[in-house]
Amino acid sequence: METEHWKARKVVIVGAGAVGSTYAYTLALRGLADEIVLIDYNRDLAKGQALDMMHGQAFFPSIQIRDGDQSDYADAALIVITAGAKQQPGESRLQLVQKNAAIINGCMDQILAQNSPAVVLIVSNPVDILTYVAHKRSGWPRGRVLGSGTVLDSARFRHQLATRCGVDVHNVHAHIMGEHGDSEFAAWSITNMAGMPIEQFCKSCAKCDNSELGRKAIVHAVRHSAYHIIDYKGATWFAVALAMTQITAAILRNQSSVLTVSAVLDGEYGEQGVALGVPSIVSVNGVDQVLEVALPPDESKAFHNSAATLREIIASLGL
Ligand code: 2OP
Repeated sequence: METEHWKARKVVIVGAGAVGSTYAYTLALRGLADEIVLIDYNRDLAKGQALDMMHGQAFFPSIQIRDGDQSDYADAALIVITAGAKQQPGESRLQLVQKNAAIINGCMDQILAQNSPAVVLIVSNPVDILTYVAHKRSGWPRGRVLGSGTVLDSARFRHQLATRCGVDVHNVHAHIMGEHGDSEFAAWSITNMAGMPIEQFCKSCAKCDNSELGRKAIVHAVRHSAYHIIDYKGATWFAVALAMTQITAAILRNQSSVLTVSAVLDGEYGEQGVALGVPSIVSVNGVDQVLEVALPPDESKAFHNSAATLREIIASLGL
Protein backbone atom coordinates (compact mmCIF):
# COMPACT_ATOMS: atom_id res chain seq x y z
CA MET A 1 0.00 0.00 0.00
CA GLU A 2 1.22 3.47 -0.87
CA THR A 3 1.90 5.50 2.28
CA GLU A 4 4.09 8.42 1.16
CA HIS A 5 1.18 10.91 1.27
CA TRP A 6 0.75 10.32 5.00
CA LYS A 7 3.96 12.16 5.78
CA ALA A 8 3.06 15.33 3.98
CA ARG A 9 -0.58 15.78 4.96
CA LYS A 10 -0.42 19.04 3.06
CA VAL A 11 -3.75 20.16 1.69
CA VAL A 12 -3.89 22.87 -0.97
CA ILE A 13 -7.24 24.57 -1.40
CA VAL A 14 -7.89 26.40 -4.65
CA GLY A 15 -10.47 29.12 -4.04
CA ALA A 16 -10.51 31.03 -0.74
CA GLY A 17 -14.17 32.04 -0.92
CA ALA A 18 -16.93 30.85 1.39
CA VAL A 19 -16.61 27.13 0.57
CA GLY A 20 -12.80 27.01 0.47
CA SER A 21 -12.32 28.98 3.68
CA THR A 22 -15.04 27.18 5.65
CA TYR A 23 -13.48 23.89 4.58
CA ALA A 24 -10.03 25.13 5.70
CA TYR A 25 -11.50 26.13 9.06
CA THR A 26 -13.27 22.78 9.51
CA LEU A 27 -10.12 20.93 8.52
CA ALA A 28 -8.10 22.94 11.04
CA LEU A 29 -10.57 22.17 13.84
CA ARG A 30 -10.42 18.47 13.02
CA GLY A 31 -6.60 18.46 12.95
CA LEU A 32 -6.62 16.36 9.80
CA ALA A 33 -3.83 18.17 7.94
CA ASP A 34 -0.37 19.39 8.98
CA GLU A 35 -0.40 22.27 6.54
CA ILE A 36 -3.23 24.04 4.75
CA VAL A 37 -2.46 26.34 1.84
CA LEU A 38 -5.04 28.67 0.34
CA ILE A 39 -4.66 29.73 -3.28
CA ASP A 40 -6.90 32.35 -4.85
CA TYR A 41 -6.64 34.61 -7.89
CA ASN A 42 -7.31 37.33 -5.31
CA ARG A 43 -4.12 36.77 -3.27
CA ASP A 44 -5.19 39.28 -0.62
CA LEU A 45 -8.32 37.26 0.07
CA ALA A 46 -6.24 34.07 0.53
CA LYS A 47 -3.81 35.97 2.75
CA GLY A 48 -6.57 37.50 4.86
CA GLN A 49 -8.44 34.23 5.34
CA ALA A 50 -5.23 32.39 6.30
CA LEU A 51 -4.20 35.09 8.79
CA ASP A 52 -7.66 35.23 10.34
CA MET A 53 -7.54 31.46 10.91
CA MET A 54 -3.93 31.46 12.11
CA HIS A 55 -4.84 33.94 14.84
CA GLY A 56 -6.92 31.09 16.27
CA GLN A 57 -3.94 28.73 16.22
CA ALA A 58 -3.91 28.54 20.01
CA PHE A 59 -7.37 27.02 19.92
CA PHE A 60 -6.96 24.20 17.41
CA PRO A 61 -4.51 21.31 16.89
CA SER A 62 -0.99 22.29 15.71
CA ILE A 63 -1.25 23.18 12.08
CA GLN A 64 0.05 25.80 9.66
CA ILE A 65 -2.34 27.75 7.47
CA ARG A 66 -1.00 30.16 4.85
CA ASP A 67 -1.63 31.59 1.42
CA GLY A 68 0.33 30.15 -1.47
CA ASP A 69 0.73 29.75 -5.20
CA GLN A 70 1.00 27.05 -7.82
CA SER A 71 4.45 25.92 -6.60
CA ASP A 72 2.58 24.50 -3.58
CA TYR A 73 1.08 21.77 -5.77
CA ALA A 74 4.51 20.10 -6.01
CA ASP A 75 4.41 18.39 -2.60
CA ALA A 76 0.70 18.42 -1.74
CA ALA A 77 -1.04 15.23 -0.58
CA LEU A 78 -4.44 16.57 -1.55
CA ILE A 79 -5.55 19.43 -3.78
CA VAL A 80 -9.14 20.56 -3.37
CA ILE A 81 -10.61 22.77 -6.07
CA THR A 82 -13.47 25.03 -5.01
CA ALA A 83 -12.73 27.88 -7.43
CA GLY A 84 -15.27 28.92 -9.98
CA ALA A 85 -18.30 31.01 -10.68
CA LYS A 86 -21.14 30.12 -8.29
CA GLN A 87 -24.78 29.43 -8.95
CA GLN A 88 -26.94 32.52 -9.26
CA PRO A 89 -30.54 32.36 -7.93
CA GLY A 90 -32.52 30.13 -10.32
CA GLU A 91 -29.41 29.02 -12.22
CA SER A 92 -28.80 25.28 -12.41
CA ARG A 93 -25.39 23.78 -11.71
CA LEU A 94 -25.14 22.67 -15.33
CA GLN A 95 -25.43 26.25 -16.58
CA LEU A 96 -22.12 26.98 -14.93
CA VAL A 97 -20.30 24.43 -17.02
CA GLN A 98 -18.50 26.43 -19.68
CA LYS A 99 -17.10 29.03 -17.30
CA ASN A 100 -15.91 26.53 -14.76
CA ALA A 101 -14.50 23.92 -17.18
CA ALA A 102 -11.99 26.53 -18.35
CA ILE A 103 -10.99 27.26 -14.74
CA ILE A 104 -10.54 23.55 -13.95
CA ASN A 105 -8.44 22.96 -17.06
CA GLY A 106 -6.22 25.89 -16.08
CA CYS A 107 -5.74 24.48 -12.55
CA MET A 108 -5.02 20.98 -13.84
CA ASP A 109 -2.39 22.31 -16.24
CA GLN A 110 -0.61 24.00 -13.33
CA ILE A 111 -0.88 20.85 -11.19
CA LEU A 112 0.58 18.76 -14.01
CA ALA A 113 3.35 21.30 -14.60
CA GLN A 114 4.39 20.88 -10.94
CA ASN A 115 4.42 17.10 -11.31
CA SER A 116 2.23 16.95 -8.22
CA PRO A 117 1.79 13.61 -6.39
CA ALA A 118 -1.59 14.74 -5.01
CA VAL A 119 -5.04 13.30 -5.19
CA VAL A 120 -7.36 15.96 -6.65
CA LEU A 121 -10.82 16.56 -5.19
CA ILE A 122 -13.17 18.68 -7.28
CA VAL A 123 -15.93 20.61 -5.50
CA SER A 124 -16.73 23.41 -7.99
CA ASN A 125 -20.02 22.96 -9.83
CA PRO A 126 -21.24 21.26 -11.90
CA VAL A 127 -19.07 18.88 -9.93
CA ASP A 128 -19.63 15.69 -11.94
CA ILE A 129 -18.82 17.33 -15.26
CA LEU A 130 -15.80 19.12 -13.81
CA THR A 131 -14.52 15.90 -12.24
CA TYR A 132 -14.63 14.32 -15.67
CA VAL A 133 -12.98 17.37 -17.24
CA ALA A 134 -10.15 17.20 -14.68
CA HIS A 135 -9.77 13.44 -15.12
CA LYS A 136 -9.46 13.81 -18.90
CA ARG A 137 -6.95 16.63 -18.61
CA SER A 138 -4.81 14.73 -16.08
CA GLY A 139 -4.26 11.47 -17.94
CA TRP A 140 -3.93 9.90 -14.45
CA PRO A 141 -5.48 6.64 -13.21
CA ARG A 142 -9.16 7.46 -12.85
CA GLY A 143 -9.38 7.10 -9.06
CA ARG A 144 -6.88 9.90 -8.45
CA VAL A 145 -9.38 12.57 -9.44
CA LEU A 146 -12.70 12.48 -7.63
CA GLY A 147 -15.56 14.88 -6.99
CA SER A 148 -17.56 15.68 -3.87
CA GLY A 149 -20.48 14.09 -5.77
CA THR A 150 -23.57 13.35 -3.73
CA VAL A 151 -21.86 13.08 -0.34
CA LEU A 152 -23.64 16.27 0.75
CA ASP A 153 -26.94 15.20 -0.84
CA SER A 154 -26.73 11.88 1.00
CA ALA A 155 -26.22 13.81 4.25
CA ARG A 156 -29.26 15.96 3.41
CA PHE A 157 -31.24 12.78 2.70
CA ARG A 158 -30.20 11.30 6.04
CA HIS A 159 -31.17 14.56 7.75
CA GLN A 160 -34.64 14.44 6.15
CA LEU A 161 -35.19 10.80 7.15
CA ALA A 162 -33.86 11.35 10.66
CA THR A 163 -36.07 14.39 11.21
CA ARG A 164 -39.22 12.82 9.77
CA CYS A 165 -38.75 9.45 11.49
CA GLY A 166 -37.48 10.80 14.80
CA VAL A 167 -34.29 8.72 14.70
CA ASP A 168 -30.70 9.84 15.32
CA VAL A 169 -29.15 10.70 11.94
CA HIS A 170 -26.20 8.46 12.82
CA ASN A 171 -28.54 5.46 12.74
CA VAL A 172 -29.67 6.27 9.23
CA HIS A 173 -27.72 4.85 6.28
CA ALA A 174 -28.95 6.29 3.04
CA HIS A 175 -27.50 7.29 -0.31
CA ILE A 176 -28.37 9.77 -2.99
CA MET A 177 -26.79 8.67 -6.26
CA GLY A 178 -26.22 10.14 -9.72
CA GLU A 179 -25.65 13.77 -10.63
CA HIS A 180 -25.09 16.28 -7.83
CA GLY A 181 -28.03 18.16 -9.21
CA ASP A 182 -31.48 17.90 -10.68
CA SER A 183 -31.30 14.31 -12.00
CA GLU A 184 -30.05 12.78 -8.74
CA PHE A 185 -32.14 10.05 -7.13
CA ALA A 186 -32.57 8.32 -3.78
CA ALA A 187 -31.37 4.72 -3.62
CA TRP A 188 -34.32 3.62 -1.47
CA SER A 189 -33.43 -0.03 -2.03
CA ILE A 190 -30.29 0.34 0.11
CA THR A 191 -31.75 2.70 2.71
CA ASN A 192 -31.33 1.33 6.17
CA MET A 193 -32.59 2.61 9.53
CA ALA A 194 -31.31 1.19 12.80
CA GLY A 195 -29.96 -1.84 10.97
CA MET A 196 -33.28 -2.55 9.23
CA PRO A 197 -34.22 -2.02 5.58
CA ILE A 198 -36.45 1.07 5.53
CA GLU A 199 -39.52 -0.94 4.51
CA GLN A 200 -39.22 -3.02 7.65
CA PHE A 201 -38.45 -0.02 9.85
CA CYS A 202 -41.47 1.90 8.60
CA LYS A 203 -43.83 -0.92 9.56
CA SER A 204 -42.98 -0.36 13.20
CA CYS A 205 -42.85 3.43 13.02
CA ALA A 206 -45.99 5.52 13.25
CA LYS A 207 -44.25 8.82 12.46
CA CYS A 208 -43.09 8.77 8.89
CA ASP A 209 -44.98 8.61 5.64
CA ASN A 210 -43.50 5.79 3.57
CA SER A 211 -46.05 6.25 0.78
CA GLU A 212 -44.92 7.07 -2.75
CA LEU A 213 -46.00 10.66 -2.04
CA GLY A 214 -44.02 10.82 1.19
CA ARG A 215 -40.93 9.53 -0.56
CA LYS A 216 -41.35 12.05 -3.36
CA ALA A 217 -41.57 14.89 -0.85
CA ILE A 218 -38.34 13.77 0.81
CA VAL A 219 -36.42 13.53 -2.47
CA HIS A 220 -37.84 16.89 -3.56
CA ALA A 221 -36.63 18.49 -0.33
CA VAL A 222 -33.16 17.00 -0.79
CA ARG A 223 -32.89 18.00 -4.44
CA HIS A 224 -34.01 21.55 -3.74
CA SER A 225 -31.95 22.09 -0.59
CA ALA A 226 -29.27 24.15 -2.31
CA TYR A 227 -31.80 26.25 -4.24
CA HIS A 228 -33.57 27.18 -0.98
CA ILE A 229 -30.34 28.14 0.76
CA ILE A 230 -29.15 30.13 -2.27
CA ASP A 231 -32.45 32.04 -2.17
CA TYR A 232 -31.99 32.74 1.54
CA LYS A 233 -28.31 33.64 1.71
CA GLY A 234 -26.77 33.52 -1.75
CA ALA A 235 -24.72 30.33 -1.45
CA THR A 236 -24.12 27.22 0.65
CA TRP A 237 -20.90 26.56 2.54
CA PHE A 238 -21.22 24.91 5.97
CA ALA A 239 -22.59 21.45 5.15
CA VAL A 240 -20.55 21.16 1.97
CA ALA A 241 -17.38 21.97 3.95
CA LEU A 242 -18.23 19.18 6.40
CA ALA A 243 -18.83 16.75 3.54
CA MET A 244 -15.44 17.73 2.08
CA THR A 245 -13.82 17.17 5.46
CA GLN A 246 -15.29 13.67 5.61
CA ILE A 247 -13.83 12.90 2.17
CA THR A 248 -10.50 14.38 3.28
CA ALA A 249 -10.41 12.13 6.35
CA ALA A 250 -10.96 9.10 4.13
CA ILE A 251 -8.01 10.13 1.94
CA LEU A 252 -5.49 11.43 4.49
CA ARG A 253 -6.18 8.66 6.99
CA ASN A 254 -6.52 5.96 4.36
CA GLN A 255 -9.87 5.00 5.87
CA SER A 256 -11.45 3.07 3.01
CA SER A 257 -14.68 4.93 3.76
CA VAL A 258 -17.75 4.28 1.65
CA LEU A 259 -18.85 7.65 0.29
CA THR A 260 -20.98 8.68 -2.66
CA VAL A 261 -18.20 10.68 -4.27
CA SER A 262 -18.27 11.51 -7.96
CA ALA A 263 -16.21 8.74 -9.54
CA VAL A 264 -15.22 8.25 -13.17
CA LEU A 265 -16.94 5.07 -14.34
CA ASP A 266 -15.25 2.52 -16.55
CA GLY A 267 -17.90 -0.10 -17.16
CA GLU A 268 -19.50 -0.11 -13.69
CA TYR A 269 -23.30 0.00 -13.95
CA GLY A 270 -22.74 -0.49 -17.69
CA GLU A 271 -21.56 3.13 -18.00
CA GLN A 272 -18.36 4.83 -19.01
CA GLY A 273 -17.15 8.25 -20.14
CA VAL A 274 -18.93 9.91 -17.23
CA ALA A 275 -18.41 10.72 -13.54
CA LEU A 276 -21.28 10.74 -11.04
CA GLY A 277 -22.17 10.02 -7.44
CA VAL A 278 -21.79 6.31 -6.64
CA PRO A 279 -20.94 4.54 -3.39
CA SER A 280 -17.18 4.14 -3.58
CA ILE A 281 -14.34 3.04 -1.33
CA VAL A 282 -12.18 6.12 -0.73
CA SER A 283 -8.66 5.91 0.64
CA VAL A 284 -5.17 7.41 0.29
CA ASN A 285 -5.14 6.93 -3.49
CA GLY A 286 -8.59 8.47 -4.00
CA VAL A 287 -11.30 6.15 -5.30
CA ASP A 288 -10.08 2.60 -4.75
CA GLN A 289 -13.24 0.90 -5.90
CA VAL A 290 -16.65 1.83 -7.23
CA LEU A 291 -19.24 -0.33 -5.51
CA GLU A 292 -21.83 -1.73 -7.85
CA VAL A 293 -25.17 -1.80 -6.07
CA ALA A 294 -27.78 -4.14 -7.62
CA LEU A 295 -30.37 -1.41 -8.23
CA PRO A 296 -34.01 -2.32 -8.84
CA PRO A 297 -35.43 -1.31 -12.28
CA ASP A 298 -36.80 2.13 -11.28
CA GLU A 299 -33.53 3.17 -9.59
CA SER A 300 -31.46 1.72 -12.41
CA LYS A 301 -33.53 3.78 -14.86
CA ALA A 302 -32.92 6.91 -12.81
CA PHE A 303 -29.21 6.12 -12.71
CA HIS A 304 -28.90 5.78 -16.49
CA ASN A 305 -31.02 8.89 -16.99
CA SER A 306 -28.64 10.85 -14.77
CA ALA A 307 -25.59 9.44 -16.59
CA ALA A 308 -27.14 10.31 -19.96
CA THR A 309 -27.85 13.90 -18.83
CA LEU A 310 -24.23 14.33 -17.80
CA ARG A 311 -22.79 12.61 -20.86
CA GLU A 312 -24.71 15.01 -23.09
CA ILE A 313 -23.04 17.98 -21.39
CA ILE A 314 -19.65 16.28 -21.54
CA ALA A 315 -20.14 15.76 -25.29
CA SER A 316 -21.04 19.46 -25.68
CA LEU A 317 -17.59 20.25 -24.27
CA GLY A 318 -16.02 18.14 -27.00
CA LEU A 319 -14.68 15.51 -24.55
C1 2OP B 1 -24.85 22.57 -2.68
O1 2OP B 1 -25.47 21.56 -3.03
C2 2OP B 1 -24.53 24.46 -4.21
O2 2OP B 1 -23.62 22.38 -4.72
C3 2OP B 1 -23.92 23.22 -3.67
O3 2OP B 1 -24.97 23.07 -1.56
